Amino acid sequence: MSARQDEREIPQHIAVIMDGNGRWAKKQGAMRIFGHRRGVQAVRDITEGCAELGVAHLTLYAFSTENWSRPKKEVDGLMSLLIKTINSELPTLMKNKVRLTAIGDLQGLSLGVHKKLLGAIDTTRENKGLNLILALNYSGKWDLTQAFKAICGEAIKGTLKLEAIDEGLVADYLSTKGIPDPELLIRTSGEMRISNFLLWQSAYSEFFFTDVLWPDFRKKHLDLAIDSFNGRERRFGKTSEQLDFQ
Ligand code: IPE
Ligand code: IPE
Ligand code: MG
Repeated sequence: MSARQDEREIPQHIAVIMDGNGRWAKKQGAMRIFGHRRGVQAVRDITEGCAELGVAHLTLYAFSTENWSRPKKEVDGLMSLLIKTINSELPTLMKNKVRLTAIGDLQGLSLGVHKKLLGAIDTTRENKGLNLILALNYSGKWDLTQAFKAICGEAIKGTLKLEAIDEGLVADYLSTKGIPDPELLIRTSGEMRISNFLLWQSAYSEFFFTDVLWPDFRKKHLDLAIDSFNGRERRFGKTSEQLDFQ
């Protein structure tokens, strides 16, 4: 069940494609990394906002498998920013009872980043508040592929019968196992594409696109996204009339 606030339905799971850091920096005549650094302020504000609203899961797309194709200097800058941010934000996460988790091909991260991340995940493990999920070295196609590989492996070994494979089982092999699909998916910066994010999990997400660049995104924008979500009729294939009689 999702939380309710003043009769507004608060999604249980919000996913965000944080986009526009580079363009934000360019507008200031600054280097791209400056935009990424300012983006951390938006992460802080939105994490706090989601915790206050009673959102259970917030997934932030922080680094895609495709982002390795960026200039080495930018990739290195992003990775050291990640380490720095974990260090600086950990006390606040603990204070606000935020549990940090991660999805993605974490083995593909550098040893330093991987260790820092696992350390923070472990430190926040018992926190009972918001589950903050960082999508790192993540892509929807990677997620589906690793799931198919694991499923086929079991089937070949004979520990899984073909008849047992259904949508629920596939979902259990994805990196988001146990987490409800996001009801609301937000993308900033005016781009209207999924960029290989939660392909399976967003099958029925409501999309909210805004021109606001990620470093400028704040609680008031999150509020607009939730208002928009509340104005949607989620039919899941049914007709409006059927929903009226529920
Ligand atoms: C999003 O901002 C951050 C990451 C993808 C890591 P961008 O860096 O993509 O910013 P733009 O799209 O170039 O403005
Ligand atoms: C998507 O943003 C990935 C993240 C936000 C981490 P990009 O800026 O990399 O996406 P494209 O390349 O414009 O689709
Ligand atoms: Mg971008």
